[in-house]
Amino acid sequence: MFKSYHKLLVSAAVVVSAATSAAVAGDAPASGTYENGKKVIDGGATYPVVKGKTSAYHVNEKAHGKGGFTFGRKPTDNEIKAWDIDVMPDGTGLPEGSGTVEDGDEIYEEKCASCHFDFGAGGAGYPALAKGNAYKNVATLKHQRTDDTVDAPNRVFGSYWPKASTLWWYIKTAMPHPAPLSLTDDEVYALVAYMLYLNEMEIDGELVDDEYELDREKFLKIKMPNEDGFEPNIDGEHALEDVRKYYNDFSNYGNGTRCMKNCFDGEPEIARIQGVGISDYDPPLVTEKSMPAKTGEEVAGKKEYEASCAVCHATDAMGAPAVGDQKAWGAVMEKGIDQVYHNAIHGINAMPPKGGTALSDEKIKEIVDYMINASK
Ligand code: HEC
Ligand code: HEC
Repeated sequence: MFKSYHKLLVSAAVVVSAATSAAVAGDAPASGTYENGKKVIDGGATYPVVKGKTSAYHVNEKAHGKGGFTFGRKPTDNEIKAWDIDVMPDGTGLPEGSGTVEDGDEIYEEKCASCHFDFGAGGAGYPALAKGNAYKNVATLKHQRTDDTVDAPNRVFGSYWPKASTLWWYIKTAMPHPAPLSLTDDEVYALVAYMLYLNEMEIDGELVDDEYELDREKFLKIKMPNEDGFEPNIDGEHALEDVRKYYNDFSNYGNGTRCMKNCFDGEPEIARIQGVGISDYDPPLVTEKSMPAKTGEEVAGKKEYEASCAVCHATDAMGAPAVGDQKAWGAVMEKGIDQVYHNAIHGINAMPPKGGTALSDEKIKEIVDYMINASK
């Protein structure tokens, strides 16, 4: 899963940056006269008018002939390799190395305890890293499904995660939170060893005690208690068939009978999944819904002015008469309102026709009225 996510990310990133530079550098000369002789100012930059379309974002019609859009390029093997640092359950991507519980303890104190608290206790919104494992208390998803007296496992590493590889990879790539990718491989082994120790995990029947030294070979022997708790199995070559088979056998879920209507006598029993509730967050993530304050009535043209014109007209920095500047608008109004409407609709000097929008003439007049009223 993580693998394909990374690939997706890398191709998206490369394509986006290449597309942007192609659109800007490819067909926007720094200055000069364009097809119809017009220049357009947008944020201080000039862009050509191509087939009546303008701005940096106009569709470059040359770029998508028969083959569709041809923006960007394929990421190179090296670029993909740089992103492809995930660790898979079968050991792919897991480097050689080793670390002791003792070293892990020290690194943890220094780099992790400030957020995850002593001994991985978690709290204040930071996930607990140690709540014990599910070997002994059998709180696994599988047991929960087959025995209604068993609670769901805590959704933490020791009792819930199906694979230890995720822990190695997560610490390596994401932690410590403020400095991801700063840990050496041996430091990660040490931290993982410490996590296993805190959770009283076993490897190959041996308890990970405070003298344990973890290495790659031992790591690959970890069997997580909840490993078989996830159904259907979505891994492997035959994943799709396996998943289909699972869902076609309705004894695997629900009450075992296919049913669309009147399936229960009386109220169905709902089993709630227990785990770390969001009430654990302190302070709560959201205490109150706050909508933007409404200020009086809607003034005609104000919304559109803010959306399309304020970018140039909020100040005089772009050479546009600033809304609120009585003197500037006094000078504009000397032309007579009809001429001002005309200029707003058809453009004048650096003022693009309709401010670069596709609004109706009537709408533009309404906005101009708003701008004038706001400048009295
Ligand atoms: C500045 C705060 C901070 C520090 C320091 C920090 N973490 Fe974290 N850690 C977080 C947060 C926040 C999350 C949850 C991230 C999320 O869910 O998106 C997290 C998540 C994790 C998880 C996943 C837990 C789970 O059940 O999802 C692990 C494992 C972890 N951290 C290990 C470490 C280790 C090891 C260190 C020290 C090298 C460390 N963290 C340092 C803030 C921190
Ligand atoms: C890209 C920047 C830009 C945008 C966006 C923009 N304007 Fe302008 N506008 C200008 C500039 C610059 C002038 C001054 C033109 C001149 O007189 O040389 C101007 C002038 C005007 C004038 C005065 C015309 C005159 O006759 O002097 C009006 C009215 C006006 N704009 C309305 C609008 C409206 C309505 C919108 C939004 C729909 C809008 N503008 C969006 C840059 C902009």
